[in-house]
Amino acid sequence: MKREIIIKLDNVWKTYRMGKNNYVHALKGMSLEVRKGEFIAIMGPSGSGKSSAVNMIGCLDIPTKGNIFLEKHNISHLHESDLAQIRGRKIGFIFQQFNLINTLTALENVKLPMIFQGLELEKREARARELLSNVGLGERINHRPSELSGGQQQRVAIARALANDPEVILADEPTGNLDSKTGSIMMEYLKKLHKEGKTIIMVTHDEKIAKTAERTEYLKDGTIVKSL
Ligand SMILES: Nc1ncnc2c1ncn2[C@@H]1O[C@H](COP(=O)(O)OP(=O)(O)O)[C@@H](O)[C@H]1O
Ligand SMILES: [Mg+2]
Repeated sequence: MKREIIIKLDNVWKTYRMGKNNYVHALKGMSLEVRKGEFIAIMGPSGSGKSSAVNMIGCLDIPTKGNIFLEKHNISHLHESDLAQIRGRKIGFIFQQFNLINTLTALENVKLPMIFQGLELEKREARARELLSNVGLGERINHRPSELSGGQQQRVAIARALANDPEVILADEPTGNLDSKTGSIMMEYLKKLHKEGKTIIMVTHDEKIAKTAERTEYLKDGTIVKSL
């Protein structure tokens, strides 16, 4: 039996305004359905709208036109405070640039998303320690990002993404700043999360990495042109 649809983009357009009379059409009618527990890859040339799509699925932004549903809930017209609520509970983000806070330790970085969910201090601490130990960083919890390798920083980012036990993991070129060996360790973690039942959407430039996913959607010029 097919599982339920967890993410749906229905004819989504995203236009950015640049200066006074200049507009960039990043998405031009993108439609996509993702089922619960699926692992999909999004590929496409630079500038084709991959990050725009992923950011809107992750409630970081809203479309100019069209609708996006997350668990049947239309998130296309929500205000920032509602988006932030949903994002915090349902989405785990992993970015190419890791996006860790440099002044905080690994442990503090992982604890941060839990603060906004109102989890008690002791539980936050215990969960953050456990998550870091699950990615093999139990000995590095008090290191700051600058004291960690790229691969270690990305593992902190994975632990942080999992802090609130999100249903959906969005990874925007998660191996883009890693060498191939460190990149494959990263992919092992994503595979494991997929096995555990998470829904994963991963943007990548690398055909080989995309093969880890069950399905690849090709974006070109703001629309899906192929699905394999
Ligand atoms: N915040 C923004 N403001 C203006 N233009 C943007 C913004 N974000 C993306 N763009 C433009 O939208 C297009 C798609 O960008 P993006 O979604 O980042 O593509 P990709 O991730 O596939 O490289 C590009 O032309 C990019 O320059
Ligand atoms: Mg991008």
